[in-house]
Amino acid sequence: MKVLVVGGGGREHTIVWKIAQSPKVDKIYCAPGNGGIAELAECVPIKATDIEGIVSFAKDNKIDLVMVAPDDPLVMGMVDALEKEGIRAFGPRANAAIIEGSKVFSKELMKKYNIPTAGYEVFDCPQAALEYIKKGSFPTVIKAEGLALGKGVIIAKDLAEAEAGIHDIMEDKVFGESGNRVVIEEFLTGPEVSVLAFCDGKTVVPMVSAQDHKRAYDNDEGLNTGGMGTFSPSRLYDAAKASECMENIFIPTVKAMAQEGRPFKGVLYFGLMMTEKGVKVIEYNARFGDPETQVVLPRLKTDLVEIMEAVIDERLHEINIEWEDNAAVCVVMASGGYPVKYKSGYEITGLDKVAEHKDLTVFHAGTKLDGDKLVTAGGRVLGITAVGKDLDAAIKRAYEGVDMVSFTDCHFRKDIGIKKY
Ligand code: AMP
Ligand code: GLY
Repeated sequence: MKVLVVGGGGREHTIVWKIAQSPKVDKIYCAPGNGGIAELAECVPIKATDIEGIVSFAKDNKIDLVMVAPDDPLVMGMVDALEKEGIRAFGPRANAAIIEGSKVFSKELMKKYNIPTAGYEVFDCPQAALEYIKKGSFPTVIKAEGLALGKGVIIAKDLAEAEAGIHDIMEDKVFGESGNRVVIEEFLTGPEVSVLAFCDGKTVVPMVSAQDHKRAYDNDEGLNTGGMGTFSPSRLYDAAKASECMENIFIPTVKAMAQEGRPFKGVLYFGLMMTEKGVKVIEYNARFGDPETQVVLPRLKTDLVEIMEAVIDERLHEINIEWEDNAAVCVVMASGGYPVKYKSGYEITGLDKVAEHKDLTVFHAGTKLDGDKLVTAGGRVLGITAVGKDLDAAIKRAYEGVDMVSFTDCHFRKDIGIKKY
């Protein structure tokens, strides 16, 4: 089989790495890929959002399966465009990816089908939004309705912050058209857990749980980032929580989407908060998470290609998906200054040392080849994933891996995996 993976970050490196282990696969392409992916796949310089470019590449190269990993091409309808040309594609169609693409859609879906989430109101005018906020309590949560590179959420602790947030989103349009409408939500508290699930429109099979560390610095200080590290499993997500979520959240969501005429096929990401009043949905994503994938897929025993084909053919109930009884930790090594201002182009050394260890894997996020040197090319540069018998063992190994790698101005958190809640 020939497989094309769309995207070029740490998540896509992990997906390519897993697909490369499948006996069914002869050749992998990745568009656009990155410096690490290039070791496993042929990288083609087509942007992940270039629907026409991807469709014609897949046609010309007789690709048997296209895996669309990032949110924007999914929301833009890349899977629909591929299917129209008779190309098999993994990922939700646009009418289902809207569960991530529009927060108004996802909140209304949850309200209609009684899926537990924070209370909310929707506003399309800044004055009305502010009037509403003035009558409520703080902190309050303001979300741009559309995709905003994971940054469209403002937790306002007082009226001044809320005013500034509404102004930025709705008037200055810092997230573009995503900010035409806002959702104002009740502020919930509790630890957060991510559960990704394979769905074929009817059946939902959750993967092992994960938790991420979003803030730039230790002890969850500093700015929010795309993710400084992850670990799996979560210490909080036990069998009782898993069955509560299956019954109240996962099955109802998949049924709701089918009932709305928007069957969800692909990976559905549940961002969950463990509140005192039970588990609630904080967000849905229509895809594998980054960097959750870097700790979830290394624990998957089953062939990912077999699972993706079962999803496409709507026979997920027929296959048995197995996981290792272990733990995984991913420590992200970033450019100093990320997520604000940072420099790129520094040589990365030591990856050959990591490659000598079977329990360590480097997943590249922002790297590129400069002649025969590998250099930094982004805020998040790479993630070191370690697997171990339990979380403590995996944490220790991940940091041993981090110590083998170096580049100028490198920044990483020293407390990944040790959040006890
Ligand atoms: P989202 O993009 O919707 O996942 O939001 C990003 C982050 O904002 C979440 O991971 C939470 O930490 C926080 N957040 C979102 N919604 C709420 C809420 N209703 N209450 C408290 N925190 C929230
Ligand atoms: N790690 C969160 C996301 O992928 O959106």
